[in-house]
Amino acid sequence: MYFGVDYHPEHWVFPLAGTRDEPESRWKKDAELMVGAGLNVVRMGEFSWGLVEPEEGKFDFAWLRRAMDVMQQFGIKVVLGTPTAAPPLWLAKNHPEILPIDECGLRFHEGTRHAYCRNSDIYWDYTGKIIRAQAAALGDHPQLIAWQLDNGIGGHRTEFSFNPETRRDWHAWLQAKYETIDRMNDAMGSRFWSQVVTDWDHVPMPMNAPTVHNPALVLDWMRFSSDTCVAYIRCQAAILRELTPSIPVTTNLRALTRHFDHFDMADVLDFVSVDSNATIKSRCAENACEIDMLRSLKKQNITTPDGDAGFWVIEQKAGHVNWQEVNSLVRPGVVRLFTYQSISRGASGILYFLWRQPRIGSEQFYGGVLTHDGRGDNRAFQEIKQIGEEMKLLAPAIQGTRVSAETCILYSHENAWSLKLPRQPNKHFVYREHLQMFHSALHDRNIPVDFARPTEDLSKYKIVFAPSLHMLASGEADLLKLYVQNGGTLVATCNTGLVDEHHIVPDTGFPNNLTDLFGMEVREFDPLPVGEENHLTFKGNFPTSHLHPAKTWCDLIEPKECEVLATYAKDFYAGRPAITMNTYGLGRAIYIGTMSHQYFYYDLVAWLRQICGVVPLLKVPDSIEVSLRERDGTKIYFLLNHQNSSVRLMFYKPMHDFLTGQTISGNYDLPPHGVLVLDERAALKTDAQPPPQNEKVESVEALGDLENVP
Ligand code: GLA
Repeated sequence: MYFGVDYHPEHWVFPLAGTRDEPESRWKKDAELMVGAGLNVVRMGEFSWGLVEPEEGKFDFAWLRRAMDVMQQFGIKVVLGTPTAAPPLWLAKNHPEILPIDECGLRFHEGTRHAYCRNSDIYWDYTGKIIRAQAAALGDHPQLIAWQLDNGIGGHRTEFSFNPETRRDWHAWLQAKYETIDRMNDAMGSRFWSQVVTDWDHVPMPMNAPTVHNPALVLDWMRFSSDTCVAYIRCQAAILRELTPSIPVTTNLRALTRHFDHFDMADVLDFVSVDSNATIKSRCAENACEIDMLRSLKKQNITTPDGDAGFWVIEQKAGHVNWQEVNSLVRPGVVRLFTYQSISRGASGILYFLWRQPRIGSEQFYGGVLTHDGRGDNRAFQEIKQIGEEMKLLAPAIQGTRVSAETCILYSHENAWSLKLPRQPNKHFVYREHLQMFHSALHDRNIPVDFARPTEDLSKYKIVFAPSLHMLASGEADLLKLYVQNGGTLVATCNTGLVDEHHIVPDTGFPNNLTDLFGMEVREFDPLPVGEENHLTFKGNFPTSHLHPAKTWCDLIEPKECEVLATYAKDFYAGRPAITMNTYGLGRAIYIGTMSHQYFYYDLVAWLRQICGVVPLLKVPDSIEVSLRERDGTKIYFLLNHQNSSVRLMFYKPMHDFLTGQTISGNYDLPPHGVLVLDERAALKTDAQPPPQNEKVESVEALGDLENVP
């Protein structure tokens, strides 16, 4: 398993480190410290363009090669970043047209990263040249194990530019999609507000305008901008696959924030890498949701440097960030906890951002593995050293293991974009929050879950959740029907099928193309203001632990063949169905016409577990997160205590703890932010050992048992 850091050797030369006579002498010290912390890989070079090509055509990769040589002396492998995320200043001076233009028509200036227009032919040319030069100079280095393409693509709205070349490509994209202008006018509904065109060149980019643009046009613009980001990375990948065919390519992604289709991006890569701010997140479930999403981007054809499955967290924050109002220290044990959270949910490589707190530049006060002084006796270093030691024990055991889920949440970026368009029925409907309620209900009950696009093969999942597929293409609807027809259980919700892929509202009833699947029709919907609630009255076998409100959105459902599971309690639609279930083929289609509080989703999952035979991994106290990685009958459980106090667990059968090598049985107090990595079979072999003495017995939560529960 690869375990490492993001290293910037260019920061650590004389006069910032080293000596006048040996300006690069610090690199050895760094490598020595890295080995001491159990690290075996660095990522380097991702912002180095101005240094490796200080003048146009004059390349100097020698220093980067020397840095790689130092790593070689210490047995540390290298991931090289292509340096295109930070174009050199000479390039912008010589070719100002590469600078992106914003939606107001103003040109951004040079001097920071990502100051480039991704539709610029000149930028593509220079990208090709620098990458070819980099591959020629460094591609044969024995330490090189992967390329990272660009860095942190997107963000700060750099997915979009409004340059003349963007306009040219936009029109070509529309032409390729619609072929004729009439077809485009019809599909986009451009007869509204005089938007009809007779020439491709007249189609606007959605720039700053007095009021909102045509939603169909904006949706296409998002698709086009996404395709542009993906094409740029694909172009880099193609060059490197030609020049260094045995070196896998990746790029670093963030879940749910950047404006491009991450599934499309993952298709271009050999493996997915992730930037994680986990350590500053207060809710472990939110972070788990993001990890599950990122793990799910690429489910097959994965090639990682060591041949393992999964994804890498190529930037796991080693401490605090520098952009919050108050950048408090990350508490002891938290980096370790979140490192294990990533591993437990499928990561097969972890690199910390960043090796040492920089003395220069705009990230000076970011947390690092080392503090500014570089001594290596600091708290973060010690914590990572501990993880490094643990990784040596754990890596052989988890090699080749995978997370496997029987449940799945559908997510499409196009739908997410359509839900972010202005003029929604309820601007307080937040898709991410809705999604999170479903994910939390599964996560908090220790039920593994994947994400998938609606177009994927869903047949392996027992339950598929489809929160608010507001924009649903007819092909997607057909696939959902097929899934249920063949025995699947689909759970959909309000705000589904309101528009088709062209953003046209159906005239055949809501949810579009699915009224037969759900055996009902949504005749109207009532968005509720914040603070206003209806209530749900349940019928039949649906078990409820609380009173459940109906919030944000209430669908008024006309039942046909479906069974009614719950009705609204008040208002003019009191007594009308709020939740329904329909049998369709061999499966069932459940529709929840509203949103509720988290407890409702817990109850929903408890009920679905029973009717679909889905078993949570282990029964443990609520604050413990459990995940499982498995391979050929080997099951490795991860138990994470996200609480600031210890939690008592009761082991009814002995289990082998990979991190200490001991067998645990009976009562065990998992310390604050503590982690257990356990395996049942190994313990059975060693159950002659006495259980460890628990010295610290503190006040504890309810006892959990570590039996599988039905
Ligand atoms: C991104 C970038 C890094 C750094 C971090 C800071 O992930 O890739 O260079 O700026 O953000 O969080």
